[in-house]
Amino acid sequence: MSLPTRRGVVAGSLALAACTRASADAPTGPLPPLKSLASFPLGVCATTEQFDELGWTELVRTHFDRVTPEWEMKAEAFARPEGGYDFGRADRLADAASTRGLKTFGHTLVWYSQVPRPFQALDGDRRAFAAAYRAYVTTAARRYAGRVVGWDVVNEPVMDDGQGYRDCLWRKNLGMDYVRLAFEHAREADPEAVLFLNDYNLEQLPKKRADFLRLAESLLKAGAPLGGLGTQTHIPADLKPGRIAEAVRELGVLGLPVHVSELDISLTRGPGPLASRSSLEDGQKRLATEVVQAIQDLPPAQRWGLTVWGARDRDSWLRRTPENRGPRPDAPLLFDDEGRPKGVAHAVAAALKG
Ligand code: XIL
Repeated sequence: MSLPTRRGVVAGSLALAACTRASADAPTGPLPPLKSLASFPLGVCATTEQFDELGWTELVRTHFDRVTPEWEMKAEAFARPEGGYDFGRADRLADAASTRGLKTFGHTLVWYSQVPRPFQALDGDRRAFAAAYRAYVTTAARRYAGRVVGWDVVNEPVMDDGQGYRDCLWRKNLGMDYVRLAFEHAREADPEAVLFLNDYNLEQLPKKRADFLRLAESLLKAGAPLGGLGTQTHIPADLKPGRIAEAVRELGVLGLPVHVSELDISLTRGPGPLASRSSLEDGQKRLATEVVQAIQDLPPAQRWGLTVWGARDRDSWLRRTPENRGPRPDAPLLFDDEGRPKGVAHAVAAALKG
């Protein structure tokens, strides 16, 4: 997801007042366990530390089936700069999830934005690079074989502007074969996990979605073990109705499981500066409903599920600014800062009931 635009910053500052006023979306009574209402798995991103919080853990165990590590299973978390690996935090997260009856979905093996430093030194030496690439992917995938139900094997391979595929060190040394090889190496190491291609803005940028689908089709044609398609769905609360339904429907055309993999619905990044808090909260409810219905409209075998990118608003990455310029106002998730269900959580429950 790109950094906030100027419009987004302006909206954010204007929305600041909206976010600090008492919300019209005040918590509205008890919520049935969402996972008990769903015809597909519900997930949430998680960090090792969050499992140390009783409130967070109880909220997640009540409503969700699955966790996606927000950070611990990324290269910057487990690949040591000097070479080698430190899987300590990822192991603790996978163990914490498992002991609490939660499944784990691995995220992410290969990402343009996180290339372990040792690969820089191999840049240009295709043979050595390819050998190190295979060792890297198989080491991580083998470690969690039997402990994760699936992986985002390659994350964000497509350019935003409809100009095809991202340049990155992986592609520079292996060509676009880096994608197919990642899937093959992951399958070699883990015969069971469902292997996903994952990207963002697929609901907002039809050309990007077309490039994403073209890549998926090419993987299938090459016999790569592509097992599913992930659409992150980081969206603004004023997103045009129907965009999500159209994207999920199109992604479903290949017959593979579809994962809405990182849902958050921002009140401050993207919405126009004049949008009122209540209209944005209504937008959140409408869009969350559209997500659930879009997944329900898929054949059951294709409903990999819905993962929200955080449980409580204060857990959201959207509340943290990259430059750590202090918290940024937003309320993009199902539960408020205290873990109470918001109107959007009740809208999800109603949609899950069908
Ligand atoms: C984000 C995390 O939520 C942040 O904590 C971290 O600082 C940056 O990465 N798309 C992805 C996720 O695939 O891995 C990103 O997660 C959000 C965008």
